[in-house]
Amino acid sequence: MKLSTHDALCDFVQMKLDGYRFIVVSNREPFQHRRVRGGIECLQPASGMASALDRVARACGGLWIAHGSGNADRQTADVFGRIAVPPGRPEYTLRRVWLSKEEEEGHYAGLSNQALWPLCHTTFTRPRFEADHWRMYRRVNQRFADAVLEEAGNQPAVVFIQDYHFALLPRMLRSANRNLVIAQFWHIPWPNQETFNTFPWREEMLDGLLGNDLLGFHLPQHCRNFVDAAKSIGGRVDQAEVEISRAGHSTSVRPFPIGIDFEEHAAVAESAEVARHEQSWRKQLSLKGKMLGIGIDRLDYTKGIPERLRFLDRLFETHREYRGKLVFLQVAVPSRCDVPAYKQIKEEVEDLTARINRKWRTAFWKPIVLLKQHCTLPEMIALHRLARFCAVTSLHDGMNLVAKEFVASRSDEDGVLVLSKFAGAGHELTDALQINPFSIEEGANAYAAALQMPREERRWRMRKMREVVAENNIYQWALNIVSELAITTGLPGRTSVEEPEYDAAMEMAV
Ligand code: G6P
Repeated sequence: MKLSTHDALCDFVQMKLDGYRFIVVSNREPFQHRRVRGGIECLQPASGMASALDRVARACGGLWIAHGSGNADRQTADVFGRIAVPPGRPEYTLRRVWLSKEEEEGHYAGLSNQALWPLCHTTFTRPRFEADHWRMYRRVNQRFADAVLEEAGNQPAVVFIQDYHFALLPRMLRSANRNLVIAQFWHIPWPNQETFNTFPWREEMLDGLLGNDLLGFHLPQHCRNFVDAAKSIGGRVDQAEVEISRAGHSTSVRPFPIGIDFEEHAAVAESAEVARHEQSWRKQLSLKGKMLGIGIDRLDYTKGIPERLRFLDRLFETHREYRGKLVFLQVAVPSRCDVPAYKQIKEEVEDLTARINRKWRTAFWKPIVLLKQHCTLPEMIALHRLARFCAVTSLHDGMNLVAKEFVASRSDEDGVLVLSKFAGAGHELTDALQINPFSIEEGANAYAAALQMPREERRWRMRKMREVVAENNIYQWALNIVSELAITTGLPGRTSVEEPEYDAAMEMAV
């Protein structure tokens, strides 16, 4: 099996995007500068999207346009908001867009995270649709369009837009500059028709997205849901239902399940630094003679954190033998703290942790340790390697890269992944213990199965999952997108490489 690498992506992009500038657009920036006592620190925000795209940007070079949200971002960028990153070893340019408090509240905390986020995830959280938020969403999309147009100038450019913060951006770009090649990846699920129909500005939003040449989702089901939505506003689709034509332009809609940089992750997992962190976690968590279960997430109501804590409660009720023997560490990284639903979930997780600990703790043992902080990559990998099981119990999730990171960390071929069947990763990681996170019994039974599983079974399950994560890595993901884009739009390198399956799809296109 030949794995895609940073260098292979670099060569491929040079060939396919020859003469084109490569511009990534996202709301969350890959590097954020913050004031701390005694100076300024640079950190990489907790976002699967940002860490995955950082790998792609490093291989492709070019420019990444994102919201400058750190309180020392202006100080560290030049007058145009530009800064070379990664710090100390620059490989691409980050251009920061400055948003006012009002713009940030309406676009990010408002429309993106109180309307689109709950609308697209089936967690039964009611979306909030405010006309003011929509106006601000439109305005911020226009602000980013201005930045892209300024950067692209008259040069040919490929613009690669990330996520639900920018549904209107593709149309704005296309109307202003017909020469741009535009692709977008939607990192979260796309809801079914009945759900999507509740969105008050659905036509304008779909029209915006149909400004793309290529639109990607993680799963075929989300592509189908999107195609249904596009049909409902008069989009014509080809026989294979992958190409949507409307108002003289056509958009390809394809699944591209995202991955991680498996090899680099696995190399860090073997490092002395990780081994040192393992030692200190062991001490900090008093793990002598005990097993460890872990959960590592942004503190978000889609992640099923209260559910996974309830599984523990039930496990201790039904399996006495694990009382005093299992420690569960939940790392919950604070997220979207200005949104009320996130304040609620924080309180719920804190209360539940306290209640379960009160119920079961002894003088020598506390079942749940809750850490509401960001962990560094080596700290996180050390936890992965110490854990008997990792719980990824999302109520709904586009992909969930924590599941893939856990697998990549386990070069010892040990550890069990308990995985929600409603996370996109479940489609690939079929050797995980898959559960319905809405069922307490299923969750508690999966924990028990993970704790009882013989070493040989843990080994073969992990080995098979590692093959999958290694193969469909982040470079392969980007290669698939760039090659699809080359075919749909006729980028320069198009004729020089054979891609039979994509050509077949083109044959079927109207
Ligand atoms: C999800 C979204 C990303 C987002 C990340 C972190 O993965 O798909 O676009 O960056 O969550 O959320 P935040 O709101 O902190 O950017």
